[in-house]
Amino acid sequence: MIRLAFLSDLHFGEGTLKAEEALLDDLLAADPSAVLVGGDLTRRARAREFAAAQRFLARLERPVLVVPGNHDIPRGDLWARFTSPRAAWAEAGLPVADGELVIGNWAILGLDTVRRIQRHLDWSAGGVSRAQLASLPARVAMVGERRRLVLCHHPLRHPAGLTGRQRPRRADTALEVLAQLGVEAVLSGHLHIAARIAGKPEQVLAPTALSPRTKGSHMGWLKLTLGDGPLGIEAHEATEEGWRVRTL
Ligand SMILES: [Fe+2]
Ligand SMILES: [Fe+2]
Repeated sequence: MIRLAFLSDLHFGEGTLKAEEALLDDLLAADPSAVLVGGDLTRRARAREFAAAQRFLARLERPVLVVPGNHDIPRGDLWARFTSPRAAWAEAGLPVADGELVIGNWAILGLDTVRRIQRHLDWSAGGVSRAQLASLPARVAMVGERRRLVLCHHPLRHPAGLTGRQRPRRADTALEVLAQLGVEAVLSGHLHIAARIAGKPEQVLAPTALSPRTKGSHMGWLKLTLGDGPLGIEAHEATEEGWRVRTL
């Protein structure tokens, strides 16, 4: 049985040091083998926010698979957004290409869904490129017969009833490709809520780990249990009384 921690939307620059220490304590007490980070590490893609994120990740002292979120490229500075969107991300030592984490009989494939510009006005919505879709069969072949998950910031499925949020470009095509490739679940953040949405592949949503913008939910993280059976998920939620754990 493998235990992983799945964190997302840390948004360094928004939260408190107290929340950061509480998160670290709870996460390390669970002793995960590795940590998945679903993007939005920062509030405004500032160098000092990336530095704080990097310090936090280093304190985990575990292998980390990380993908960027829409907050991790410049927003107000359009010149930087278009000419060097990943400069601060790369300077912090974070990976600029889609990566993988292979652990036991499982493989988690990272997919960078952040886009600098979109056809509609919501530039935060992200997308999956044709090139990324075309590269997936080879990436899956590389991890062999292992069971597969995908980690990307933007959910490919949204909860029923959610309005006013765009799904990433080519979300439906990506879901078809991932289903054909036997990917069991897509792990995402962005919406700042903890949820599981059934489907092939299913969609798993992590809450924000540290941002006060909890969208009516709680700050927290997900503990994933990977064994021979179905994917096990426990949401660890920060409440006034301390950490509350519930099975998703
Ligand atoms: Fe976010
Ligand atoms: Fe986001």
